Amino acid sequence: MQKILIQNGEIINAQKRFKADILIKDEKIERIEYKMEAEADTVINASGKLIFPGFIDAHTHMGIPVRGTESADDFDSGTIAALHGGVTTVMDFTVQEKGESLVSGLERRKKKAAGKAHVDYTFHCNVTDLNDKRLLEIPEIIRQGVISFKAFLAYKEAGMQLDDRQILELLRSVRDAGGTVMFHAENGDLVEFLTDTYLKYQKTTAKYHGLSRPAEAEIEAVTRVLTLNRFVECPIYFVHLSTTEAAQLTFMAKENGQPVFLETCPQYLLFEEAVYEQENGHRFIASPPFRKQNDLAYLWMALNQGVMDVVGTDHCPFTIAQKDAAGGAFHLTPNGLDGVETLFPLLYSEGVKKGRLPLRKMVSLIAEEPARLFGLFPQKGIVMQGSDADLVIFNPEGESTIRAKELHSAAGWSVYEGIQINGEIESVMLRGNWLLKDGELQEENLNKGQFIKALI
Ligand code: URP
Ligand code: ZN
Ligand code: ZN
Repeated sequence: MQKILIQNGEIINAQKRFKADILIKDEKIERIEYKMEAEADTVINASGKLIFPGFIDAHTHMGIPVRGTESADDFDSGTIAALHGGVTTVMDFTVQEKGESLVSGLERRKKKAAGKAHVDYTFHCNVTDLNDKRLLEIPEIIRQGVISFKAFLAYKEAGMQLDDRQILELLRSVRDAGGTVMFHAENGDLVEFLTDTYLKYQKTTAKYHGLSRPAEAEIEAVTRVLTLNRFVECPIYFVHLSTTEAAQLTFMAKENGQPVFLETCPQYLLFEEAVYEQENGHRFIASPPFRKQNDLAYLWMALNQGVMDVVGTDHCPFTIAQKDAAGGAFHLTPNGLDGVETLFPLLYSEGVKKGRLPLRKMVSLIAEEPARLFGLFPQKGIVMQGSDADLVIFNPEGESTIRAKELHSAAGWSVYEGIQINGEIESVMLRGNWLLKDGELQEENLNKGQFIKALI
């Protein structure tokens, strides 16, 4: 492969920002130096541009089964969307079928991505059908390079919910093998009870999605996991946290020394529960639901102050036809939203440019910290000598508007339609290959995404 020299850019890592030249050889960053003297086949002038490590979306669901249908993006369309948003690594989830072994679930999921993905990928291992045999597989999954296991405290109706004893067993086995347990924290029994109650009175509009999954469902689930984990002390990670109280409880546990990490998503930073009362509010159905204005403000503050560790997107979009198929009935509408392409643009524009998020903190949330927490650092998550040459060259000048017709998700629409965006991603590199170059998709470099093994 040729040597590429990128000159005069400003590198933005989570720990520091500095002006330097970057020499890339094969798939790696060979050298970083201020005003470098080096021979190269191609020289790029990045003067006035910011250079970020390729972003990591720690939470995507490409082509998963939800409420009788499948999320609209597979690894092909979903990672085309990713690369246009500067995301060069996606962390997706395995799908464990009833009675299936964890190893077989991982194999199946790897096959779905292989040869299709345009960015690198790894998986978190869903554990939805747990017994002693499955617990014994955990070290093998970790040996195979998947070090995070996801438990659901909700989705009872889909047979995915674990009980407290199972959670304790999972925490202990994962701790002993050096992994992390992730939690979808909603009290599924409360959700089921409230859902059944609303349905009894024919209350099926989107508003009841929010009412059947109240803040208390999240707060109770987080409290329970934190309490159970006091007896195990396994590293734990809460996905898509949406409420002030749950974030505060987690922060207190962190302060008390529990190894606990927190993720929120752009939708919980930008949308309020009132959205569900708008026309076609059911199209915004995602779990957990959107909350109140004070939660949004708290979550922004938590990002800024380091209470939150990661922003992932929970990318799991559906077409309008899929969203509308149940006539708006909240309990039948597939839950999930688009996000992978707009992760960085939204955090930069709504966070950094609006003074709610320091620039380097943003890089920590969507590059360095997910790489560290999930065993990919320093291969990913930082612009550093020896790291993979995954880069985003960003022009901070200019403004545009998010338009679904310009996005790349197969869903064909976006909940972020119409939001103003600052700057423009000009070029994106994955392991030394340009995926986007001056805004142009580089077709010859597609389908080169690889499974990246995580290390404990
Ligand atoms: O509504 C959502 N978030 N759908 C995707 C699955 C999940 O719970 O993460
Ligand atoms: Zn979830
Ligand atoms: Zn999810």
